[in-house]
Amino acid sequence: MTEQPLLEARDVTKYFGNVIALHGISTAVRAGEVTCVLGDNGAGKSTLIKTLSGVHRPDKGEYLVDGEPARFASPRDALDRGIATVYQDLAMIPLMSVWRNFFLGSEPTRGWGPFRRFDVVAAKQTCRESLLAMGIDIRDPDQPVGTLSGGERQSVAIARAVHFGARVLILDEPTSALGVKQAGMVLRYIVQARDRGLGVVFITHNPHHAYPVGDRFLVLNRGRSLGDFGKGEISREELTRMMAGGAELEQLSHELERGADSEVAAVGRDLGDTAQQLGSGSVPMD
Ligand SMILES: Nc1ncnc2c1ncn2[C@@H]1O[C@H](COP(=O)(O)OP(=O)(O)OP(=O)(O)O)[C@@H](O)[C@H]1O
Ligand SMILES: [Mg+2]
Repeated sequence: MTEQPLLEARDVTKYFGNVIALHGISTAVRAGEVTCVLGDNGAGKSTLIKTLSGVHRPDKGEYLVDGEPARFASPRDALDRGIATVYQDLAMIPLMSVWRNFFLGSEPTRGWGPFRRFDVVAAKQTCRESLLAMGIDIRDPDQPVGTLSGGERQSVAIARAVHFGARVLILDEPTSALGVKQAGMVLRYIVQARDRGLGVVFITHNPHHAYPVGDRFLVLNRGRSLGDFGKGEISREELTRMMAGGAELEQLSHELERGADSEVAAVGRDLGDTAQQLGSGSVPMD
């Protein structure tokens, strides 16, 4: 892999007061690749992507864009360099139509000077075309965004970032609130964005969502990296075990089983079984 990364974090450390949210984290995002960032609650995933998208500055370490050290004053600066972030609580207006939301802040205009106005016909058509180009078939671009499903809303946000020329697409837990079918739909758009040559950063708790689409896997645990693996370097089972913390589950099950309450002990035995399954590599699918 000799290609220059679009984004690179080198040994990045970030403090919030006494809390070390990130500790010496390094990773790279390349064009045409999906970099997955996995980790439990509080692992530092959002802090890492906020560092990559210009919200936070690292306290130590380097952040490079196209191989050059970068310092963004705001997320707008990052966007100007083609780094688009789709947050979980999408910045969309539920009562506005799909196409209005699509162009929010970048409306195409017609005419000139005092006669400049929003070109509605062009906007609707462009919106429909770029959604279709990603294989997204919204029945009616006039319908309010609030009436779309969570998966459809994520899809519109992804198509919008692609349309406005993002080179890097950062997605913070786009599948965590979705059912199996809709999560599958969002995963398909992640693959499509990758196939169009974007570098994608995909944050998730779920190794079963990450493994099929990811090219690299960065696993975080309480601000530290448990490793940054290429697809060939880690199996789905290993990734799941790392995420589930097989050893921690086992410990917890022993503690619960020792308790006096029989119901709690039963939960403990269940956990023990799960830990064993994880250990032997036979992983139950979600
Ligand atoms: N703005 C902030 N001020 C103070 N502490 C913060 C701030 N942002 C994050 N933290 C702390 O940094 C740590 C990492 O938080 P972060 O939000 O990056 O985790 P996460 O992996 O995204 O978790 P989740 O899966 O719950 O979204 C946590 O201990 C959190 O409390
Ligand atoms: Mg988070």
